[in-house]
Amino acid sequence: MNEKRAWWKEAVVYQIYPRSFQDTNGDGVGDLNGITKRLDYLKNLGVDVIWVSPFYPSPNYDNGYDISDYRGIHPEFGTMEDFDRMLHGIHERGMKLVIDLVVNHTSWDHPFFVESRKSKDNPYRDYYIWRDGNNGGPPNNWGSCFSGSAWQYDEATDQYYLHLFTPQQPDLNWANPEVRDRVFDMMTWWCDKGIDGFRMDVIGMIGKENYLDGAVPPGGLYGSFEKSCQHTETTHRYLREMRERVLDKYDLLTVGEAGGTVEQGIRYASLDEKELNMIFSFEHNDGLNDGTELGKWSDHGAPLKEVREIMNRWQLGLIGKAWNSVYLSNHDQPRQVSRYGNDSPLFRVRSAKMLATLIHMMHGTPYIYNGEELGMTNAYFTRLSDYQDVEVHNAWKQWVASGRVHPEDMMRYFARIARDNARTPMQWDDTPNAGFTTGTPWLAVNRNYLMINAEDEVGDPDSVYNYYKELIRLRHTHDVIVYGSFEPLLNDDENVYAYRRVLDGTVLTVLCNWTDRTVPCGLKEESPGDILISNYALHKEGVLQPYEAIVKLGKE
Ligand code: GLC
Ligand code: CA
Repeated sequence: MNEKRAWWKEAVVYQIYPRSFQDTNGDGVGDLNGITKRLDYLKNLGVDVIWVSPFYPSPNYDNGYDISDYRGIHPEFGTMEDFDRMLHGIHERGMKLVIDLVVNHTSWDHPFFVESRKSKDNPYRDYYIWRDGNNGGPPNNWGSCFSGSAWQYDEATDQYYLHLFTPQQPDLNWANPEVRDRVFDMMTWWCDKGIDGFRMDVIGMIGKENYLDGAVPPGGLYGSFEKSCQHTETTHRYLREMRERVLDKYDLLTVGEAGGTVEQGIRYASLDEKELNMIFSFEHNDGLNDGTELGKWSDHGAPLKEVREIMNRWQLGLIGKAWNSVYLSNHDQPRQVSRYGNDSPLFRVRSAKMLATLIHMMHGTPYIYNGEELGMTNAYFTRLSDYQDVEVHNAWKQWVASGRVHPEDMMRYFARIARDNARTPMQWDDTPNAGFTTGTPWLAVNRNYLMINAEDEVGDPDSVYNYYKELIRLRHTHDVIVYGSFEPLLNDDENVYAYRRVLDGTVLTVLCNWTDRTVPCGLKEESPGDILISNYALHKEGVLQPYEAIVKLGKE
């Protein structure tokens, strides 16, 4: 075995979007006590690590990714005592807790920013990025990730501040050593409290190197900030500093939301352990689009050829050099069974299990997003007012209200790809509001909760839930799943995603039919051994049935 063992390589991580997980006081918003209440459910599933998306005080322009106090708990999520009880409950059950670190930007309500915007000579002025305007407009042509300019004019001092996301999320100035001291102190404070890791929000953007105009895509309205502040040398320098000053003092799981290319990914998550344990790449989701100025908003599906080319490139690129995180779902993506699989009643369960097999047998630490283990589907909202997400409403303003995209087209794109598809409440049972709340849920519950809910699935041996449970158990049983090599198979096959993992003579073969048809598949010789797991009770030699997934384990 070449890879060094590490608990975070062997782990399975479960992501909780706290607003949508479990409400315990009837206000329609999930809370920390709700997480504590469901810890036995997670323990039964078998996950090792729980990552909870932001629960800090926030005006919620971006659902908590705009933080106004890094050391507090938003009252709608509970209190610090609730947090401590949750942490204790997680540790008591032998699980670990990863928290979200959102330090590219703060909320505009954060006391640092409240001070910073007061005057040019305020001691906090330099905590953010302020610039004079250029010819009566913003300092440069950059667009924000959520539409519009990345600069906001502020009358009080007649300057602009940078916000790569919404204007309510001003970017911190990491070039200021005081800012780094403050962030590192805060991280140390959480580590001393006993948390087990950080998921680092858009961490690839912290190192701004210059403020030059960026390239404008054809038909686009704004320039890209990519060259000046994505994956720069400066970002790597800050991460190394963070590693030395904070991370190395504890035994943590660190995962950077960094994206970029394979080469960039290797630098963040290199096995030489200078920066982070692992990274999230985006190519296999955000990279699937029509390549127009509309970016993610398109009818683009998830063709096997594209997905496989991207995922195999990442598997082969990182193995032996860096550690990957493998996932299809999170709070920023639509539901995976709707996007990559088939959520019709006939194929939902099979395709959800097929996708789970594909991911959990790959090289890298698998992440499960709450509800994925039930095969939850997209919300398919039909009215703009059903959506809560700022990204949706901004996109509507930018593209539809301005007459550039037909409303029907945009509503169809939203139904396919909008983030709220994955943010509808957890479906616990078949009581009103799916057992999520006794009040009015902050975002509508998916109407299919009568058919898809945890209570039914936990008791059903053939459910998606129990399939995930078995996949997790297998990871904990067979080293080849964690530490084996990765070898793509059937690279030109139109229908089947296949690969092998090998470790010290043990061979794991994974075959996944990406289609709703029975397709030929002849791989007998190369795949020794017995079936370890499958989403069909009976395998037919020489073919794969619709969305069939098969994993074989044998000796070389
Ligand atoms: C990340 C988060 C996303 C958030 C953005 C800004 O991409 O995952 O939810 O909107 O950063 O913080
Ligand atoms: Ca609540």
